Amino acid sequence: MANKIGFGNLVLTLVLSLLTTVTATPYATFPTNCTATTFADIASVVSSCMTSIIQGVTVPVDGAITLNLKGKTVQFAGKISWAHTPGGRSPAEVLIRLTGSDATVIGLPGHILHGNGQEYWDGGGGNKGVLKPKFMRIEKCNGCTISGLHVVNAPVHTFAISGSNNIIMENIYLDSSMGDKPCASLSRTNKHPDVGGGKSCGHNSDGFGVSGSTNVTIRNSRVENQDDCLAVNSGSDIHFMNNHCSGGHGISIGSIKTGAKVSGVHVSNCTITKSENGVRIKTYDDATDASVTNVTYKDIKLEGITKNGIVIQGDYRNGGPTGKPGKVPIKGVTLSGIRGTVRGGQNVYVLCGPGACSGWSWSDIRIEGGSSKKACQGVPAAAAAYCK
Ligand SMILES: *[C@@H]1O[C@H](CO)[C@@H](O)[C@H](O)[C@H]1NC(C)=O
Ligand SMILES: *[C@@H]1O[C@H](CO)[C@@H](O)[C@H](O)[C@H]1NC(C)=O
Ligand SMILES: *[C@@H]1O[C@H](CO)[C@@H](O)[C@H](O)[C@H]1NC(C)=O
Ligand SMILES: *[C@@H]1O[C@H](CO)[C@@H](O)[C@H](O)[C@H]1NC(C)=O
Repeated sequence: MANKIGFGNLVLTLVLSLLTTVTATPYATFPTNCTATTFADIASVVSSCMTSIIQGVTVPVDGAITLNLKGKTVQFAGKISWAHTPGGRSPAEVLIRLTGSDATVIGLPGHILHGNGQEYWDGGGGNKGVLKPKFMRIEKCNGCTISGLHVVNAPVHTFAISGSNNIIMENIYLDSSMGDKPCASLSRTNKHPDVGGGKSCGHNSDGFGVSGSTNVTIRNSRVENQDDCLAVNSGSDIHFMNNHCSGGHGISIGSIKTGAKVSGVHVSNCTITKSENGVRIKTYDDATDASVTNVTYKDIKLEGITKNGIVIQGDYRNGGPTGKPGKVPIKGVTLSGIRGTVRGGQNVYVLCGPGACSGWSWSDIRIEGGSSKKACQGVPAAAAAYCK
């Protein structure tokens, strides 16, 4: 008996001292064989380690980092860059794909994920010109957390979250700001012909796209791009807070197409600067079996908006609105604490089909500076005073 207690104590002491050692010197005890420093090592390292590091890797032409993580953690360190595929690359392909459950992906301080988007950019984005791969798809991931990533120059759409639940993305920094410049002025190796008419070379460089996903939180992040900061195409229970968006098209719901349903999108405490729009909901004029319900935007600061401070339009078409709003219901839109300035465009613009918009509650909206005066249509009474 005495021996057993003694042995138990000894084991306990050993365990405790081991724990202390591990806590005190995490790097010394991190298995060096769980760090992948070449592209070829990634798959085996990630499959054999619960926590692995991908450090200073160049992903070869047409390569992708594919992570299927079940309860595992992957951390990025150093500079990870993706070689440009000279002939272009299908948008169905991605530079990083994450699937799995209870997965954690972390960017360690000082790392960079460089998509070399500047080598693909031609002003045409996903609409025309050379084909461009998306940066990262988070697909069929359940309970996945992605934090601290520093992404530079995504070729086209950056983060696409699809068919996923219980997702947290935080402290993400997307810097595709180099794409603000015309193609001719970019310093780069490859030059695809400019199909964007000399405007910004980056295009369709959306920050976060969400479709078919529920319970998604995106917070404490910064996006510098040339398209939507957030685009919710379908899904529910989406939370977007404490984010800063610059250079793009606004914090958007849509574009809503046939069959797409969005409910419960809550945006709060965000800043939108140097962007075409601030708050934006867009539904295709010809969409059916689609709806937008229960949306809140609260405490949003706008600065240097060039088109619309707030825009809700039922006549969306890629390439230009039709002026004839369709029937997609846009119900329960609560806006409060929206402040800021528009330069040249319109402070608030709403175009709803007959009866399509209802149950809105707007308060405390102060947007100034807009000079355009497109007529508002179909605005619920509770919001009418703000649309002029
Ligand atoms: C790393 O070493 C541990 C212990 O020797 C082993 O179990 C594991 O398979 C190794 N992992 C790799 C990627 O070689
Ligand atoms: C939403 O996802 C988070 C992160 O996985 C989780 O902690 C939370 O419980 C989920 N909420 C619901 C209502 O499922
Ligand atoms: C609002 O977001 C900013 C980051 O843009 C953050 O610093 C601040 O703490 C947030 N405020 C609240 C009340 O969460
Ligand atoms: C709207 O969203 C909030 C927050 O997610 C939720 O509590 C509420 O039940 C939703 N209301 C409807 C009508 O869906």
